[in-house]
Amino acid sequence: MLNGEQITIALSKGRILDDTLPLLEFAGITPAEDISKSRKLIFDTNHDNVRLVVLRASDVPTYVRFGAADLGVAGKDVLLENGSEGLYEPLDLDIARCRLMTAAKVGAPRPEGGRVRVATKFVTLAKQFYASRGIQADIIKLYGGMELAPLLNLADEIVDIVDTGNTLKANGLEARELICHVSSRLIANSAAMKMKQAAMQALIARLGEAVQNRK
Ligand code: ATP
Ligand code: PRP
Ligand code: MG
Repeated sequence: MLNGEQITIALSKGRILDDTLPLLEFAGITPAEDISKSRKLIFDTNHDNVRLVVLRASDVPTYVRFGAADLGVAGKDVLLENGSEGLYEPLDLDIARCRLMTAAKVGAPRPEGGRVRVATKFVTLAKQFYASRGIQADIIKLYGGMELAPLLNLADEIVDIVDTGNTLKANGLEARELICHVSSRLIANSAAMKMKQAAMQALIARLGEAVQNRK
């Protein structure tokens, strides 16, 4: 049913993958082997012209932007942080829903007058957010475990993903301001949208139906 042009879909490993595989299955795309049990990074599917690659979440937009992959699944946080130049965003997949928020130690007042030290891996979004509030912020780049930074006095606040709030609570922190809502998006290489129009449209339509059917 899918047209013959070769399509490569880049999937984010980790939590997004767990939610993406059932969606692909719903759309009639089944990996030829169990992705979670394999060390391989490229997987054939039940469609001769569709293959899956499994990447770090933050690398997915790069593969799609350069056309190494035609389609991809990426968190809106990653897209906002890294920019979406050269990318279409045809579908909100409504998976891996969470919020990007500021947080601080429970009850701790924001330092007045001086600058606020903010630890985050979302450097661009954090800079934009504090600037939009007229707050002077020194951003400290981290790669994970942001919740530790206020506890060791590396930072006054963090900007990080919040879902259940359990990680904040377990570390004596509280969420403060909402920066944006986040869910995973289907992204598409803009050149591939034109060059491989039939196959791309067919896949996007199937995934769109899968998203609707799951609701
Ligand atoms: P890495 O560990 O490779 O740096 P990561 O921490 O970005 O990657 P994941 O934790 O799998 O990888 O997160 C991938 C995406 O899932 C995020 O970009 C975000 O969109 C979403 N996400 C992250 N944490 C949560 C969460 N607790 N609940 C729901 N969605 C989340
Ligand atoms: C993410 C995020 C928070 C946590 C929020 O971390 O960075 O720490 O989930 O979820 P919660 O509100 O439901 O507790 P993750 O587990 O991905 O760990 P990481 O630091 O390795 O990214
Ligand atoms: Mg994570």
